Amino acid sequence: MRQQRLRPVLLLIGLLSFLVPHGPGYGGGARAPFAGIVPSAAAAAPTTPEARLRAAVTKRGTTVLRLTSDLRLTSDLPAVTCPSLTVTGNCRTVKGRSRRCKIDGNERFAGFLAMSVNLTLSNLEVTGFASKNGKDNTFVRSVSGAITIRNCLFTKNSGGVIDVTGGDGLKVEGSSFVRNEGGVIKVAYSTMEANDVLFQANTGGTAIGLIRPGLICRRCVFENNTAKTQAAAVAVVSAGGIRFSRCRFIGNTVTEVGGRGGAVAVQYSYGQFCHCQFERNTIKVAGGKTRIEHVYINGLVEFCGKVPSTGMNGDAGDPQVNCRNCPSA
Ligand SMILES: *[C@@H]1O[C@H](CO)[C@@H](O)[C@H](O)[C@H]1NC(C)=O
Ligand SMILES: *[C@@H]1O[C@H](CO)[C@@H](O)[C@H](O)[C@H]1NC(C)=O
Repeated sequence: MRQQRLRPVLLLIGLLSFLVPHGPGYGGGARAPFAGIVPSAAAAAPTTPEARLRAAVTKRGTTVLRLTSDLRLTSDLPAVTCPSLTVTGNCRTVKGRSRRCKIDGNERFAGFLAMSVNLTLSNLEVTGFASKNGKDNTFVRSVSGAITIRNCLFTKNSGGVIDVTGGDGLKVEGSSFVRNEGGVIKVAYSTMEANDVLFQANTGGTAIGLIRPGLICRRCVFENNTAKTQAAAVAVVSAGGIRFSRCRFIGNTVTEVGGRGGAVAVQYSYGQFCHCQFERNTIKVAGGKTRIEHVYINGLVEFCGKVPSTGMNGDAGDPQVNCRNCPSA
């Protein structure tokens, strides 16, 4: 409430500060608010972190934006028309240590909508992106592009965080997805590569949903995720191929009776697990009981290393042992 009442006052102070002549340290930014009303040939340089982000997504050439403070959106980002955009967080703690910069969707605004764009995001904390009431507020929605995510934390978003269709796909490195709601990543007709990524305590939907993809996950951890109707960690359908190397699936649960694949569901697809670990992944069965089911197999699944003695269930016979094509690390 207090914040609501303060906002007009802060806005006024913000506007007034532009009326006061600035010293040379502030540069040409002082003219920015009047760029629209004072006839002027040169576009004024954007001043706030949000304005700089807006300007970057519509630049014509390869662009690198270095954020030095957190930002909370006050409206949807414009569609990304910059062909190759990198946004890097370069924030500091009060003690001067390097930290991620926060981008907050304010529970109602949309992030990067990218068509045929190369987008690289690093060192960011992404929060408050919430698709609801039919409005798509996904943080990144990419069609025919290439998305790279490095050293980011995604937390407290809902209704999906990253959605990639076609193109050169999605690469995620050294990042965490924690306590998001209603699914995290979707990839369709494209590829996903994840290295050293944590998915933890996400609720209400499959963390990674895949339609006819190629997926490789190396050293990923899926822990304590829950979904209602199927696979809390990863679900693949439609002739996809997924491979996990040295991954751990622990305590993932499907909460509705009839839902299959506590951690993973492989449907009409190929899956391979190279030296992976499975513990306490469960589904719900009639009578309110739970049953161990690490992987629901309705396709071909192969294991390299230890095949779990329980919890590999499905309609396609016993899992095979095969180490071919397993990554060496
Ligand atoms: C986008 O990345 C791909 C490789 O993933 C590259 O072939 C292409 O040239 C890049 N496009 C631009 C506009 O940078
Ligand atoms: C995962 O859930 C188990 C059981 O509820 C709990 O003991 C454990 O601490 C949780 N792990 C994390 C990392 O929160």
